[in-house]
Parts: sequence; C-alpha cells; structure tokens
Amino acid sequence: MKTLISTTIASLCCVTLFSCASIDSGEHYASTGEKLYAENCYGCHREASSLNEPKTFLHETIHDGGKNMPSFEDTFTEAEHQQIIDYILSQR
Ligand code: HEC
Repeated sequence: MKTLISTTIASLCCVTLFSCASIDSGEHYASTGEKLYAENCYGCHREASSLNEPKTFLHETIHDGGKNMPSFEDTFTEAEHQQIIDYILSQR
C-alpha cells in the first residue's frame, strides 16, 4: 500500500512538473508558421481561418502591408512568408 501511495505521489509530481515546464518554455506551437502567426498576426486578426484570401494575395498582403496593416517585407524572409502562408492555408 505504501508503495502504491508513493508511486501515485511521484506520478502526480511528474505531471505537475511537466505541465509547468511546458508553460514556462512557451514553445507549444506545432510549426514555425503557427508561432510566427501567433506572434505577428494574431493580435490584429485573431484566428487564421478568418483570412480567406488566395495564396498570392496572402503573400502580397504580408509583404506589402495595407492601408492600416504594417508591411512585413523587412521582418520575414521569403521562407518565413511561406511558413506563415502554409499555416493560414492549413487552418481552412
Ligand atoms: C497592426 C495590425 C495588423 C497586423 C499586426 C497584421 N495585420 Fe493584416 N490587416 C490589418 C488591417 C487593418 C487590414 C485591412 C487592410 C488594410 O490595412 O488596408 C489587414 C489585412 C490583411 C489581409 C487581407 C484580408 C483582410 O482581412 O482584409 C490579410 C491576408 C492579412 N492582413 C494578413 C496578415 C498576416 C498574415 C499578418 C501577420 C504576418 C498580419 N496580417 C498582421 C491589420 C494587421
């Protein structure tokens, strides 16, 4: 019985430590595109599924910006543009 209790306590500690560790690291994104979206777009656009434009238009908007949207030309490499676009497309 004692063994069972200590095993239970030990596993509870494990679970607690593990979840704290994953909160601390903040690295729970499935992809770079998702992380970049969360950090750079979510604040204004919320869920990526709300962006329903064709691929070329997504690229143009991220690259050039809009009337009120900042341009990300100097922020993202071409590869990062693609990663964000792939993430947005994966949310449809
Ligand atoms: C500071 C707020 C802001 C940020 C940050 C921002 N946007 Fe926008 N975005 C806007 C606004 C406002 C518009 C409306 C068009 C305009 O500005 O003329 C827009 C338009 C768009 C559009 C055209 C479709 C539409 O809904 O009008 C797309 C696609 C888009 N944004 C994608 C992104 C992506 C991807 C990111 C991150 C890399 C991003 N935006 C970051 C504010 C923002």
